[in-house]
Amino acid sequence: MGVQEPVNATAAYSGRGLVFEPPEAFRKRAFISSMEQYRELYERSIKDPEGFWREQAQRITWFEPFHTVKNTSFDPSNLYIRWFEGGKLNAAYNCIDRHLEKRADQVAFYWEPDNPDEEGKAITYRQLYEEVCRLANVLKKHGVKKGDRVTIYLPMIPEAIYAMLACARIGAIHSVVFAGFSPDSLADRILDGEATYLITADEGLRAGRRVPLKRNADQALERCPDVKTVLVVRRTGGDINWVEGRDRWYHEEIQTVSAECPPEVMDAEDPLFFLYTSGSTGKPKGVVHTTGGYLVYASLTHQFVFDYHEGDIYWCAADIGWITGHSYIVYGPLANGVTEVLFEGTPTYPDPSRIWQVVDKYQVNILYTSPTAIRALMREGDEWVKKTSRKSLRLLGTVGEPINPEAWLWYYRVVGEERCPIVDTWWQTETGGIMITPLPGATPLKPGSATLPFFGVQPAIVDNDGNILEGTADGMLVILDSWPGQMRTVYRAHDRFVQTYFTRFPGKYFTGDGARRDEDGYYWIVGRVDDVINVSGHRLGTAEIESALVLHEAVAEAAVVGYPHEIKGQGIYAFVTLKAGYAASDQLRQELIQHVRKVLGPIFTIDLLQFTPALPKTRSGKIMRRILRKIAANEYQDLGDTSTLADPSVVEELVQNRLNR
Ligand code: WTA
Repeated sequence: MGVQEPVNATAAYSGRGLVFEPPEAFRKRAFISSMEQYRELYERSIKDPEGFWREQAQRITWFEPFHTVKNTSFDPSNLYIRWFEGGKLNAAYNCIDRHLEKRADQVAFYWEPDNPDEEGKAITYRQLYEEVCRLANVLKKHGVKKGDRVTIYLPMIPEAIYAMLACARIGAIHSVVFAGFSPDSLADRILDGEATYLITADEGLRAGRRVPLKRNADQALERCPDVKTVLVVRRTGGDINWVEGRDRWYHEEIQTVSAECPPEVMDAEDPLFFLYTSGSTGKPKGVVHTTGGYLVYASLTHQFVFDYHEGDIYWCAADIGWITGHSYIVYGPLANGVTEVLFEGTPTYPDPSRIWQVVDKYQVNILYTSPTAIRALMREGDEWVKKTSRKSLRLLGTVGEPINPEAWLWYYRVVGEERCPIVDTWWQTETGGIMITPLPGATPLKPGSATLPFFGVQPAIVDNDGNILEGTADGMLVILDSWPGQMRTVYRAHDRFVQTYFTRFPGKYFTGDGARRDEDGYYWIVGRVDDVINVSGHRLGTAEIESALVLHEAVAEAAVVGYPHEIKGQGIYAFVTLKAGYAASDQLRQELIQHVRKVLGPIFTIDLLQFTPALPKTRSGKIMRRILRKIAANEYQDLGDTSTLADPSVVEELVQNRLNR
């Protein structure tokens, strides 16, 4: 498989750049503690996937054993992905019940509120059991059945975990919508998912500000007549509108039911949840994950990648509204019986020491966060970090976007004091779990590289024509065969699933990412090669933003691209042409930016908006985004071939008025 150990030993500059070997103390207690061991297991996982995954699947409690480990085909004309067929299980049972015998009184999670002066909570596995059972019974009482869809629109509060697991317990399919999404985005997701039940809160709290979740939900539901019941968690006690007969208080309802609810027996391939994600075209897709394969994969990756040992305190600082929260706050860690931290707040509130104070408060050993958070904190200066202890930290992780070596080194040296390996984990909503990653007790690290494939994962780099490139290579990242955590379909749009992921390079799963492989076989993820941009680790479709812009009466046409942004990774750059009768002004610019925030949600905040009399188009009328990307990146000297443009003078005007200088 071409993986070679980097030749240089501990951290030192060499012709190959910086390489960091696992610290000896870490290596000693690690599950995978040498490259030999990694390679041996990896090779086995590829040569004998059935044997490997049959064995690994034993970490899950099955009510009935599966009869077939793997039954998959990536052939676009006959595509199917099935794992652990015949197996029966319940995800909530695996995350809760089976731990009760040994760890009923162990804390499952500490909840740390937005405001450090507010009292947090410590929820044991026994309490988790009761809360989840009660909520499951409430859902049942309200008529929710196996296979029904429940939309969850909650902030980072314990009830978010209860809600997901309560759905899993009764076999309802949850669809979590990030609390930063607008009423319209929420409505689109409820409608697409045909959900009949909504769980939300009166308000959320983030960095001291209130987020009007119930108000957003009320607005969304004007378009969603099929939602008959809204369960409302009281978080702030703020004033909200109430629809009699539809709205019910969470705290009242759970008093009316018992704290025992038998888990539904689910098929390995029954859907566990779907989660919407942006693609290069059209509306967001409902990515469907099923029960057995997803749970095995989330739990195994969580244990090996974070080298999670009994007694460790683990903290994934992502939001439950994203896949990272699903796999590495809820299903992976809880299936492994962890003690973890659930954090409602943000890294810089009330001040940039917050993360490190929480680390000290709970004596966190493993911290998983995003490059954006790291860059934002790095900018605030080292003092905020250095005034905290952080002695408990043993391992650091990042996810969501490429991490620049400068931020990596800061994380390694200042935060981890060169004692903690960093796992830079590459994966996607679609992959369900981590795919390319160091194993911290074994893999020599190179800042900025996600390094090597996890067990059972076969990445490859292809050129534009789909030819697999060997050795050092630069091209597009594909995966050659199925793994248990893989998404199974797009909800109600199987053709779109096949079309999006399996037709560009038939027989291979196309990730949408560009990547490079170096002389040691290490992967360096370059970023998206499609029209998806990655802003602060949030995956946004440029098509969605363009659609939102043209909804405004003044806008004739819009083209949106990403550009390099120091903190956010990428920023949003919009080129807009106006309808006759409208004049460009700063006021209109602000209005359009606000308009998009309102339509899609505050994470869709355009950074730079350039008015232009025209967009660069080919003679057949296609917008030449390549040129816009260059201008947005301030690389206007090197626009490449512009001879196919219908009107080359457009480019001059765009360059002259460019906003990123
Ligand atoms: C990007 C998040 C570089 C990538 C789990 C991918 C990364 C997209 C990394 C998926 C990483 C994620 N290095 N890029 N370690 N992790 N990405 O679906 O472009 O929100 O395709 O899943 O994020 O984003 P998603």
